[in-house]
Amino acid sequence: MTSDNVNNGRRRFLIGATSAVGVAGTVGVAVPFLAAWQPSAKARAAGAPVKYNISKLEPGAMVTVEWRRQPIYIVRRTDEALDLLKKIPKNDLKDADSENLDQQPDYARNDTRASNPEYLILKGVCTHLGCAPKFRPEVAPADLGNEWVGGFFCACHGSRFDLAGRVYSGAPAGANLPVPPHRFEGDAVIIGEDPEAAS
Ligand code: FES
Repeated sequence: MTSDNVNNGRRRFLIGATSAVGVAGTVGVAVPFLAAWQPSAKARAAGAPVKYNISKLEPGAMVTVEWRRQPIYIVRRTDEALDLLKKIPKNDLKDADSENLDQQPDYARNDTRASNPEYLILKGVCTHLGCAPKFRPEVAPADLGNEWVGGFFCACHGSRFDLAGRVYSGAPAGANLPVPPHRFEGDAVIIGEDPEAAS
């Protein structure tokens, strides 16, 4: 056997041994890696649906709950507020008919953007750069002008939304405030579940 043959044989052996170690090493690290990816109870809870009892929410009032680390606005609209909503000219809104399908589930794709018109459920996250718009239910307040019929005002850059979360034309925000999945169960609303989850 020449020294070349010896070296080639040794090289093959070394490559084989290295590969075997490589595979074993991969298996060895894969187990703890996968284990680390099991979501903790806390992480699972962070994505879990949130239930809120709406029976004590006064007409005209809003409450904020947290779901998936985001503020969720729950507004109990009055009949007057719903009437005013109908009077807003569609041309004043960027997406009056909720044509952007990403911004609400099908059951909220209507004039009030709600499955129950009395209750508006929205993510309180401005679709411009993510500030939390302020709830401004008053009609014609001095700072928002005579045309204002109630809604949400984002003080960061001045986006205006109506009481269905629809963005007004001229605002820097491009889309309506998102409606999260939700369903009603007795006196409660469950944020994070669609109505069909109950059937
Ligand atoms: S973040 Fe709301 S207008 Fe810019």
